[in-house]
Amino acid sequence: MKRVYLQIIAIALWGCTAVVRGQEVDVTRELAYCKGQVDRTLKELSPIDYTMTPRNIGADESRWNLRSVKTPEEWCAGFFPGVLWMASSAGQGDEKERLMKEADRYSAELEYLAYSPVYDHDLGFIMIGSYLKGWELTHDEHYKEVLMAAADTLATLYNPAVGTLLSWPRNVEMFGGHNTIIDNMINLELLLWSGKERNKEIAVHHADTTMTYHFRPDGTVNHVAVYDPASGKHLYNCTHQGFGDNTLWSRGQAWAIYGYTMVYRYTKEQRFLDFAKRVADVYLERLPEDGIPWWDMGDPMIPNSFRDASAAAVVASGLVELASFLDGAEEARYLGEAKRMLARLSSADYQSREKKPSFLMHSVGNMPAGSEVDASINYADYYYIEALLRLRDYRK
Ligand code: GLY
Repeated sequence: MKRVYLQIIAIALWGCTAVVRGQEVDVTRELAYCKGQVDRTLKELSPIDYTMTPRNIGADESRWNLRSVKTPEEWCAGFFPGVLWMASSAGQGDEKERLMKEADRYSAELEYLAYSPVYDHDLGFIMIGSYLKGWELTHDEHYKEVLMAAADTLATLYNPAVGTLLSWPRNVEMFGGHNTIIDNMINLELLLWSGKERNKEIAVHHADTTMTYHFRPDGTVNHVAVYDPASGKHLYNCTHQGFGDNTLWSRGQAWAIYGYTMVYRYTKEQRFLDFAKRVADVYLERLPEDGIPWWDMGDPMIPNSFRDASAAAVVASGLVELASFLDGAEEARYLGEAKRMLARLSSADYQSREKKPSFLMHSVGNMPAGSEVDASINYADYYYIEALLRLRDYRK
């Protein structure tokens, strides 16, 4: 507890530093930085055990903590392979080949999940980071086969009475019903990508049901929505990882921004694009001046609280894509916001640089559980490099 207080004081002092608006992000330089950090990580992990994934680095640590990927509970198992795939796509020649080989080896350890009974909705995060990123780069038929199987496995969580996937089967009793969390929006990509009519219908129903019940009238999102599994009736909303049931948990809003933008990419249904803009606007209105959110915008400790770089990275990536579907002032606004966030994340205040082998510091995983507070987390790195690549490839 003492350590957490010391961290709060340090963050408060650090938060007082002046922030320059309108900074530009140097995409080439930051991608080179990411590749350098990836090489450092691979060297540190050598000889590599591909069943152990780099997950986080605590605020006062300097080496990755590894987690076994041979348990479906490790929801972050796909992010490091994803970082490798993306770093490879920023590389050339032998360097590119070498990183792709490493990405393939890490991904291969996850294949069993596509063919096992589903543990929870996080199967999407796991397969999108590993196999989908790999397929996008290589168009390897084997990756496609695994992804198609994984999509069908994920679809087994669908409850037609409710119209959404069950996110956490293990928590049905705890919540008193069919629970769907906003994070689940990201995993719809696996269903949509598969191109199967039934999977697409499930994803669209999930996105529509979530749009109806998961949000407050002001457009901010709840973490969890609970439904009666038999009648499908919406019962109540609550938080799990946010500060309170009525506060804006930043990563939750980030998943909504990114998720509805992605659903629009696949469906081209105008209502999803409109909704992505709405949930983005609500988030942008509440952002602190420097563009990096507090872990929860309703934490009464603000300004003596923690930022969440992971939410900033997810939003930056989502906004680059959102801008690409728009034009004129709207496009310029969302793209400008994304660049501003990426410039700030690329500053010495957020990049780990020589201190740690991760790309970024200062993310919050699960504050109520006291886990990964002010840490480097692999998904912050994943969405950061994804955002940089989306910017590099913008409208090419
Ligand atoms: N999907 C879990 C989280 O965002 O922490």
